[in-house]
Amino acid sequence: MDDVNKMTEVISVISGKGGVGKTTVTANLADSISKQGKSVLVIDANISGANMGIHLNMLESQADLNSVLSGKDTFDNAIYMHPCGFHVLPASINVAGSSMRGFSGVISNLIGHFDFILIDTAAGADDEVKEAINASDSVLIVTNPDIPSVSNAALVKRLATNLGKPTKGIVLNMTRGEYLELTDKQISEFMDSKVISKIPFHKNVKQSTVFGKSVIDYSPRCPSSIAISQLAVKLCGTETETSSFLKTFVSKIPGLNR
Ligand SMILES: Nc1ncnc2c1ncn2[C@@H]1O[C@H](COP(=O)(O)OP(=O)(O)OP(=O)(O)O)[C@@H](O)[C@H]1O
Ligand SMILES: [Mg+2]
Repeated sequence: MDDVNKMTEVISVISGKGGVGKTTVTANLADSISKQGKSVLVIDANISGANMGIHLNMLESQADLNSVLSGKDTFDNAIYMHPCGFHVLPASINVAGSSMRGFSGVISNLIGHFDFILIDTAAGADDEVKEAINASDSVLIVTNPDIPSVSNAALVKRLATNLGKPTKGIVLNMTRGEYLELTDKQISEFMDSKVISKIPFHKNVKQSTVFGKSVIDYSPRCPSSIAISQLAVKLCGTETETSSFLKTFVSKIPGLNR
């Protein structure tokens, strides 16, 4: 682990509905933020349905979040360096239903060691997710542009607000620009929160998951990779002339930024 005097920002990536792309967004943001020169730890806190290890091709881990929470291992044994340059604290893909009790204690030991800690969570508003939100400074809400996913996203936003955690923004994933798809304006109004990123649906994202790679690495020029990189820049607060140029460029391509 890095030195201990960083101003660590802890962000939980949450959603109302399952399958909207939380793990994809979290893994790719970790990759993208670390490419901005920041140190990142990504934690799989979806212990009831862990699959960050699958997304990142890290299936050999002995120690993991489950064994740390149950007191069998210490957290420093369960943190691995991914070949892409960020750290990962995986959860077991073989165990479903452990308790997240003690998670805040784990996080407090990690504060200061990283610039960002990104926490991938289960869908919904159960205790497992509450523990993750409680341990975070803020939440990033991932939704798809359809009514069921947005209405459930509003419920988890309310949960975060009730727990005193601000929403950093909405990430609108798998946009296709289809007829009747909700727009970012409609979603912002309904959720009372800004859509800070629109990530287009692209076949390369699914392909990258199959190969256990981030889409940023698998296909850096795919529109989804560009959108995630822009989100990373936003979160790091490091918008440069080049990244603003990229934003202008993307906004001029029909279909990329609807
Ligand atoms: N922008 C995208 N374009 C195309 N496919 C995507 C996109 N985002 C995610 N996917 C695909 O959707 C599937 C579900 O994504 P993911 O596992 O990240 O969702 P999740 O919200 O973490 O699900 P769960 O709630 O089960 O944890 C994966 O196969 C992933 O590759
Ligand atoms: Mg997931």
